[in-house]
Amino acid sequence: MRGVKLLAACLYLAAAATVVVHAEDPYFHHVWNVTYGTASPLGVPQQVILINGQFPGPNINSTSNNNVIINVFNNLDEPFLLTWNGIQHRKNCWQDGTPGTMCPIMPGTNYTYHFQPKDQIGSYLYYPTTGMHRAAGGYGGLRVNSRLLIPVPYADPEDDYTVLIGDWYTKSHTQLKKFLDGGRTIGRPDGIVINGKSGKGDGSDAPLFTLKPGKTYRVRICNVGLKTSINFRIQNHKMKLVEMEGSHVLQNDYDSLDVHVGQCFGTIVTANQEPKDYYMVASSRFLKTVITTTGLLRYEGGKGPASSQLPAGPVGWAWSLNQFRSFRWNLTASAARPNPQGSYHYGKINITRTIKLVNTQGKVDGKLRYALNGISHTDLETPLKLAEYFGIADKVFKYNSVDNPTPEQTKSIKIEPHGLTFLTSLTAPSSRWCLRTTRRVFSLGTWTVILSSPLRTWTPEKRKNYNLLDAVSRHTVQVYPKCWAAILLTFDNCGMWNVRSENTERRYLGQQLYASVLSPEKSLRDEYNMPETSLQCGLVKNTPKPVNPYAGA
Ligand SMILES: *[C@@H]1O[C@H](CO)[C@@H](O)[C@H](O)[C@H]1NC(C)=O
Ligand SMILES: *[C@@H]1O[C@H](CO)[C@@H](O)[C@H](O)[C@H]1NC(C)=O
Ligand SMILES: *[C@@H]1O[C@H](CO)[C@@H](O)[C@H](O)[C@H]1NC(C)=O
Ligand SMILES: *[C@@H]1O[C@H](CO)[C@@H](O)[C@H](O)[C@H]1NC(C)=O
Ligand SMILES: *[C@@H]1O[C@H](CO)[C@@H](O)[C@H](O)[C@H]1NC(C)=O
Repeated sequence: MRGVKLLAACLYLAAAATVVVHAEDPYFHHVWNVTYGTASPLGVPQQVILINGQFPGPNINSTSNNNVIINVFNNLDEPFLLTWNGIQHRKNCWQDGTPGTMCPIMPGTNYTYHFQPKDQIGSYLYYPTTGMHRAAGGYGGLRVNSRLLIPVPYADPEDDYTVLIGDWYTKSHTQLKKFLDGGRTIGRPDGIVINGKSGKGDGSDAPLFTLKPGKTYRVRICNVGLKTSINFRIQNHKMKLVEMEGSHVLQNDYDSLDVHVGQCFGTIVTANQEPKDYYMVASSRFLKTVITTTGLLRYEGGKGPASSQLPAGPVGWAWSLNQFRSFRWNLTASAARPNPQGSYHYGKINITRTIKLVNTQGKVDGKLRYALNGISHTDLETPLKLAEYFGIADKVFKYNSVDNPTPEQTKSIKIEPHGLTFLTSLTAPSSRWCLRTTRRVFSLGTWTVILSSPLRTWTPEKRKNYNLLDAVSRHTVQVYPKCWAAILLTFDNCGMWNVRSENTERRYLGQQLYASVLSPEKSLRDEYNMPETSLQCGLVKNTPKPVNPYAGA
């Protein structure tokens, strides 16, 4: 049975792998020095993680298919890794930067990432995946521009700005980690920051961005925080939504946007108001007490301070859900599409396997843990991918292939590495949402997956209501309380991929898994061999790398 399915999956893979090698794709080299430093995100100095002295880190500006080379020097006192959230790493999970796929960069050493945003465009972010480092910064924007010959469905903007919004804690990442290790929650955030700062809002803030009257700007908005959904708006200005994580959408104007953790929106903002200062406002969603911060926009040559009257944010879940439902893929916009015959016409692809992931929380030995299908993932010293590649997977983890958890599996929690094998499937999130849920944002290295809270709310009949035409293809999806989200996805990219809650607290406490997408043919057409430069650790620290295991067939 298994063999048959495998073969079918890989025939599909082979058919889809019409890969063109662009020998001429240009290389861009970066050297990044990761250090501790001091910044005052909420007005009081505290320790943060800097990249080349910057907090947030530098924005990566790239174009489809560029070779992005980043030599990262870890000058922290702890192991460190960065993930490039949303970059698809086709055939190349070796650069994904999660503890299950790579060995961490040890203090005082360096590692050179090499990735290609192949056949993709859009607005993304990168962030640390080790410990609770994300709470201290080390994150930044990552954009992939369309190649010059490919038309984009909006006029060339005057400039391109990245707005990184996120919740912020005044406790250090080590203190927050201690809370979680001790089985307690990190609680609610102390504030919200925009590009690492929180405005005083008294007219004394320096502008974050300057606009020329009459011009249009590309404004990319990403939620880089730990766990809080944030509403973003700009006084007197509409935002025309044009793109979400690499998909062009039907263009609508929004007064404000709910941005969940790990998500990015690409908008166009026109400087068509009276030339003066305006506030950008970011406020928490779904917390009992709303936390708000501002950042200043200035019109060049403008006169007058921003009004102290801040536009009010939305209230309640229904608003967020309705806004989500208004997002539609623009099927006529040309774009880099990774798999036009597959993902693009996602509604036409037959579903071969349905996997339910049920998220639960509970106590193990009196300590708070989060789980998927009753398994709370724990990272080991040997990354799962390396164990698999070196042929010792059985010494490190077992594939917990639960397609459909039993009620017991959703009631009890056990802690162990969480690996699943996926042989088929198909992507492009389609979704039907229901009301009332806690928001949980998940992402799968490239495309996102499944999800539900209570088992009882999803039944196969719900498939009739899926949007099989123009649901937006993206790599994260939020699930509202007591709700579910269906994600259709084709596993057409071999490798080991992290499916994780974007809520850092939940992810740290186990709500993640690794999906191993295997090719029985072990062909280089399906997956690259482990690069010579990859780090080795744990049980394979001193083991010679297998010689071209993926050369076959
Ligand atoms: C990184 O920054 C630290 C602190 O500024 C400095 O001591 C070190 O030499 C830098 N390393 C590199 C590789 O630039
Ligand atoms: C980003 O890259 C594009 C394409 O190479 C270039 O036109 C643009 O000036 C760059 N922007 C920044 C801010 O570096
Ligand atoms: C570390 O940096 C050095 C100097 O830039 C470089 O030659 C070397 O390849 C890097 N090591 C890794 C593992 O990337
Ligand atoms: C969709 O994209 C096409 C092609 O670029 C564009 O002409 C059209 O205006 C877009 N439609 C909407 C509703 O945004
Ligand atoms: C889906 O299944 C139907 C019925 O078995 C078949 O006719 C169709 O060709 C399949 N579609 C694809 C894309 O494989």
